[in-house]
Amino acid sequence: MNMETIIAEITENQQENQKIYETAAQILKAGGLVAFPTETVYGLGADALDEAASAKIYAAKGRPSDNPLIVHIADKADLEKLSCDVTKQARLLADRFWPGPLTMILKKNRCVPDSITGGLQTVAVRMPSHPVAAELIRTSGVYIAAPSANTSGKPSPTKGEHVIHDMNGKIDMIIVDDTVDIGVESTIVDLSEEIPTILRPGYITKEMLSEVLGEVKIDAAIMGSVKEGIVPKAPGMKYKHYAPDGDLTIVEGDIKRVVEKINALTAEKEAAGYQVGIMATEETKDSYTGGIVKVVGSRNNEATVAHNLYAALRDFDKQKVSYIYSEGFSTNHVGQAVMNRLIKAAGHTIIKA
Ligand code: TXA
Ligand code: MG
Repeated sequence: MNMETIIAEITENQQENQKIYETAAQILKAGGLVAFPTETVYGLGADALDEAASAKIYAAKGRPSDNPLIVHIADKADLEKLSCDVTKQARLLADRFWPGPLTMILKKNRCVPDSITGGLQTVAVRMPSHPVAAELIRTSGVYIAAPSANTSGKPSPTKGEHVIHDMNGKIDMIIVDDTVDIGVESTIVDLSEEIPTILRPGYITKEMLSEVLGEVKIDAAIMGSVKEGIVPKAPGMKYKHYAPDGDLTIVEGDIKRVVEKINALTAEKEAAGYQVGIMATEETKDSYTGGIVKVVGSRNNEATVAHNLYAALRDFDKQKVSYIYSEGFSTNHVGQAVMNRLIKAAGHTIIKA
């Protein structure tokens, strides 16, 4: 696959922006692929009701076909068009959190093709708050099926350069606007069963959902290991994911001991001639004695770590490090999403300091 990819950047010039939306809308309506920013990560979009178009998404990403896509809408009322069973819980969540980083799983309507739900009888729906995503959905007039715009298995893109790296030559258009704020994918909540269940943690936490819904469960597979035989309910969560090229290890425990352990491991690998990357924080950055030290955020603010996580992993790839050591993080708030992604990226390699 090698095609000309239009790369267009959103600027202050509203007239130019309008042209970008119109070009992108034409492409989507004609069954093509357009990558675009959202408030979580960049998405790779196609007309959700066009089976041939969504098939192209799987090809461009190298994504397994049993892994369903999220359908993005710009109007809450469209939920009724995609699901035949919009529950009271779904309405309450939409009123509270949409537009925003929350995806709901509901029983699907017949118009939703099996190819985008991986054959499941449910559909994942999200109404993004990012103005570019919302404007693109509105201008095109289609529901946009969009996974994260990365090559399958790699960290999700949070900057235009990440999308260009993975998708240039494989899709019709990339809309660049580096105002992706949250940095990890949306929270997924399954409302198709009796007790709402979080299938993927994100910026909207269990506590926030519980305030609206009462009892909320977390899918047992979220922090656990697929190797332990717990199969996640979101098909996508069972694959190796978010992984950098380097061999990533998480070091957990008392932070002073963590730094000592990472210093010792780094010295060992450097002595053996390897390049080492260290995922450090504002609080610890000056305590490392070797390696390429990258500050991912502050230990006291999980949101800063979420915002920079994928870019840091991709930077280590660019620098061709063989080993990466990361501090573990608190699982408060969006920290749970951070640790969920980091654990998957590390293929569950965690050591205690
Ligand atoms: O923040 C986000 O959600 C981003 C942006 C682009 O909106 N999108 C995103 O899509 O993360 P993707 O395809 O990378 O992840 C979708 C996840 C996968 O793990 C998939 O298995 C799960 O959602 N999923 C989709 N439909 C599902 C369904 N009907 N039942 C259970 N899981 C589903
Ligand atoms: Mg993804």
